[in-house]
Amino acid sequence: MISLSNLTKSFGNFDAVKSISLAVPEGAFLVLVGPSGCGKSTMLRMLAGLEKPSRGTISFGDKTVSDGERGWTIEPAKRDTGLVFQSYALWPHMTVAGNVEWPLTVARMAAFERKARVTEVLSLLGIDALADRYPNEISGGQQQRVAIARMIAPKPKVLLFDEPLSNLDAKLRVEMRTELLRVHRATGATSIYVTHDQVEAMTMASHVAVLKDGEVEQFGAPGDLVAQPRTAFVATFVGTPPANLIPASPHGSKMILAGEPMVATFSLEGPALAMFRPEDLTVYDKPGPRSIAMEFAEASPVAGRMMVTGTRDDLRLTAVVDEAPKFYPGDPVYFSLPEAPAALFSLKGERLA
Ligand SMILES: Nc1ncnc2c1ncn2[C@@H]1O[C@H](COP(=O)(O)OP(=O)(O)O)[C@@H](O)[C@H]1O
Ligand SMILES: [Mg+2]
Repeated sequence: MISLSNLTKSFGNFDAVKSISLAVPEGAFLVLVGPSGCGKSTMLRMLAGLEKPSRGTISFGDKTVSDGERGWTIEPAKRDTGLVFQSYALWPHMTVAGNVEWPLTVARMAAFERKARVTEVLSLLGIDALADRYPNEISGGQQQRVAIARMIAPKPKVLLFDEPLSNLDAKLRVEMRTELLRVHRATGATSIYVTHDQVEAMTMASHVAVLKDGEVEQFGAPGDLVAQPRTAFVATFVGTPPANLIPASPHGSKMILAGEPMVATFSLEGPALAMFRPEDLTVYDKPGPRSIAMEFAEASPVAGRMMVTGTRDDLRLTAVVDEAPKFYPGDPVYFSLPEAPAALFSLKGERLA
């Protein structure tokens, strides 16, 4: 089990990571996801022992590996973690096999054991045939496999990944997700995976922590985050496509949603944000009951349905429908809302109902 307690990292008087506490069971695949600059890499570097926490602790099992208050941290090589970055950083003068063997040599493993382990991990990653090639003789995707093989060769208990697929093309990225999950399963090691891509997070994670400005907005299983977002940020960050948030305010017996007064079956004390799921909206080419006039932006087929997006000023709405009229960019499009939203948030983004 990995547990973080009040983990904080300050650079001068800027807190990049703010008092994060969470625990994941052994063998979990934890994904840290959030926009650029939210503190993901800083967290991962603290887990790897490359960065000392300013406050708080990190424990692997019952062993504390970093303690901010005491100012000590077990060095990277001694904490049984493996780390893979976005850039593969293979040794250019060593073959694929040589790269994978290197950490085993450093760990003083006997030569015959090293050979056996190299063969084993190259075959796990499906790159046995590349053993004698040099990094500049293989593709980016193959290089990333080598980096992963090199990381898992010494059998670390904790695998750390910092956006390892960001440099790969879209198709390879999807293939590598499966590959990484296979490696995770084969090794049984607890993995912590950093990404800014929520689709990657939702497809790979057993546990997800959504980070924003150095804090955990929500921690849970992928399905729970989509079903029960705790904040407006999470609601609009996760899900394919993510939920819509529409400004709402009470007006007599009606509700004003995105500026349109309409009859509603929910009540509010004051202005709020109403969450509507894309699959709960319908789209028309004429005004109708409970509809909001938007400008058509784009449409694309998804799994036999149509995803239609409209914009108006800062508001962007997405609906997923069975059928939609043919629109051209700039056409008026009317998004019709159900009577009640799936969730309500305060203007600050806290969940109300
Ligand atoms: N060594 C450093 N010195 C000062 N600020 C840093 C340092 N490392 C990271 N930061 C800042 O901390 C914040 C989080 O950075 P980082 O963890 O790299 O974010 P992410 O990986 O989520 O994009 C950013 O605002 C970044 O500029
Ligand atoms: Mg980063």
